[in-house]
Order: sequence, then C-alpha cells, then structure tokens
Amino acid sequence: MDFALSESQLMIRRMVSDFAGKELAPIAAELDRESRFPHAILEKMAGLDLFALPFSEDYGGTGDGYVAYVLAVEEISKACASTGITYAAHCSLGTNPVYLFGTEEQKLKWVTPCAKGEMLSAFGLTEPDAGSDAGGTKTTAVLDGDQWVINGTKCFITNATYAGMVIITAVTEPGQGTRGISSFIVPTDTPGFSVTAPYEKLGLKASDTAEIIMEDVCIPADYLLGKRGEGFKQFMQVLDGGRISIGALSVGIAQAALEAALNYARERRQFGRPLSKFQAIQFKLADMATRTELARLAVHRAAWLKDQGQTFTRESAMAKLFASETAVAAALEAIQIFGGYGYTREYPVERYLRDAKLMEIGEGTSEIQRLVIARQLGC
Ligand code: CAA
Repeated sequence: MDFALSESQLMIRRMVSDFAGKELAPIAAELDRESRFPHAILEKMAGLDLFALPFSEDYGGTGDGYVAYVLAVEEISKACASTGITYAAHCSLGTNPVYLFGTEEQKLKWVTPCAKGEMLSAFGLTEPDAGSDAGGTKTTAVLDGDQWVINGTKCFITNATYAGMVIITAVTEPGQGTRGISSFIVPTDTPGFSVTAPYEKLGLKASDTAEIIMEDVCIPADYLLGKRGEGFKQFMQVLDGGRISIGALSVGIAQAALEAALNYARERRQFGRPLSKFQAIQFKLADMATRTELARLAVHRAAWLKDQGQTFTRESAMAKLFASETAVAAALEAIQIFGGYGYTREYPVERYLRDAKLMEIGEGTSEIQRLVIARQLGC
C-alpha cells in the first residue's frame, strides 16, 4: 500500500495552491458579496490547463487523471468554493458524460473545447418534480425525421447561463421508467433553448445556478449520447464521479475553516493567553483537523479507484457524505472559535458555512448518499 502522491500530482497541487492563494483567495469575499461570476479567474485556470486534467490527450486533456483533478478542486475550493463548484460542474458533470459515453466524433467536437477551457458545460438532470427522484424526469425527446425535438424544464443547473452545451436527460420511451430515459448533447444556442435569471442563493453566490427551459428544441439525431434508454444509468455513473469532486470541494472548505480558526486562535487573546492554549479550543481544532484529513483520504481513495478503472459507487457516496458533513461541522466550529466576529462578514468563516451547506444537498443529498451506501451494502 502506498499513500504517496506522485511527483506530478504534488507539482499540480503546489501549482494550483500557489495560483489560488495569490489570485483567487484575495478576491473571494468580493466575488461572493457581488455575486460576480469569476470569468477572469476561469480564463487563467484554462491557461494553467486545469480543465484538461481529467481528460486524455486525445481530446485536449493532459491525461493526469482524477486524483490530480480532485487535488486541483480542493485547492481552488479552499480559496473560493464558488469557483470550485463552477470548475467541478464543468469537468465532472458537464464534460464527463461525453468523455465517457460519446462517439469519437462527439468527443472531438465537444470534449476538446471543454478540456481546453474554450467552452463551459453543464449537466441537466434535475427538474421541478424530479430532484432526489431523478428517474421522475418529465422532459421529453421525440425523434422526428433526422432530429430530436426536446421539451421540458431543468432546474438548479450550475453554469447554465454561460455554458455552450448542456447534457440533458429526457424520456424517449414513455412508460418504461428509468429504462426509457436517454441523454442528449444540447448546444445552448439552439432556438427554443432559454435560461431564466439566476437563483438568489444562500451561498456559492459567485457561481451561476439557473433554470433551463426547452421549447421545441431541435437537435440532430446524432446528438443522442450512447444508446436510447441508457441515459439514466449514464447519469448515475457520471454522478458517481461528480460526488468525488463535491467531496474534494468540501475538503477544501473544511481546510480553509480549519486554517482560519487555527490562525485566529493563535492570535486572539482572552483571560491573558491565546485561545489556542485553552483545551476547549484545542479539542475543537483537533476534531476539525482529524475529520478533514479522513475526508481527504476518502476522496483520494475514491478518485484513485476511478483512475484504476475499478467500481467506486460506494466509495464516492461515502466520501461525499463524510466530507460534506465535515465541511459544515468545520465551518460551524470555526464560527464558534471566532465568536461574535465569526458571525460577521469581516471574516470568511460565515461564507464557509453558507458555501458548505450546499455540499450536503447538491449532486445527491446526504439522505440519497446514505440510500446509495445502504443499497451497496445489500439492504
Ligand atoms: N451506476 C450504474 N448504474 C446505476 C447506478 C450507478 N451508480 N445507480 C443506479 N444504476 C442503475 C441500476 O442498476 C438500475 O439498472 P436496471 O434498470 O438495469 O435495473 C437503474 O440504474 C435504476 O436504478 P435504481 O432502481 O436504483 O433507480 P432509483 O429510481 O431507485 O434511483 C437514486 C436511484 C440513487 C435515488 C437516484 O435517483 C439518485 O441518485 N438520485 C439523486 C439524484 C442527484 O444526485 N441529483 C443531483 C443532480 S446535480 C444537478 O442536476 C445540478 C447541477 O448542475 C450540479
């Protein structure tokens, strides 16, 4: 057993940490306050090949793999979770379906610009009446000659406003449940495709989340991804990978909360000594550090399994569940250590809590992760 990261993985982590610390962390509070999408930062991330990490060189990637990618997600999210979710939703949800299930032609056409950071992508699964019950999709796709006609609404879609393509699910075989769902590549400039104004959210305010409306959207027949009726399974597999990146995002937030609380506890003096000298505070910091490290190990293991081509449904659900609950707990404890100051916008810990909460909801709630894990146990 070898827990060591490779030289190139260590180099990528150092590079991203350096970039995020210098260029992203200093503006994260401002992006959050102004709910400003991080266009310029994303351009710089593209210049550093960060969008390319999980994809092979055949399609514009660097071939570094999923472990390298989750290291980058953690470092970006530690500085700014809004940028982290934008990055993760693009790579592991928006681009991955084509990378995993597309034809050679589809991969060259859609994965390549996404891996190069020339186009943003999104993942359209959730609907107003199909959230945790993703199989309850009502969007329809009907084959009419040589094109599909799509009608339906998708909600809570990360990157919807700025994406060049969205991968969506739609019912093609009514009455066949999840086996009647197919997936499609939908270019966002197709007539009939529109996006509503972004949601006003509790956190992740600099990320874009909006509703997609499709009214008689016509796409070529060969924009079907994989085979008819396989869309639900494809999306479940994509979510298995996406949940690892939400785990990494959570670890980034938890690490940021830990470091902020530790620095504050060392500086802030009460009763004649630094807070860090009080056992009550030390125990909080020790618990935060322990949970964050264990969450990181779970995320790395799930990513490693994915890179090895092994099954990882259970491990990704566990990593996402544990890491997201760790991020919320760490942010809450950080606020407690900061006391009254932690409750103000003067310090970043209130943002960490607002951002962390989405980790327990997005890409499958904690309840859905427990359901997935229980099914994997054979319940
Ligand atoms: N890998 C491969 N196949 C899978 C799978 C997986 N991980 N999970 C399920 N399947 C297969 C099953 O084997 C089954 O196959 P058969 O038809 O051959 O038997 C089929 O898929 C149906 O599976 P289930 O019977 O388990 O389906 P279900 O209806 O009970 O749903 C669920 C299972 C786990 C609850 C699923 O609906 C789920 O994950 N829900 C949460 C959805 C979610 O995470 N949504 C967030 C999306 S993020 C987003 O949209 C916004 C954004 O931009 C971030």
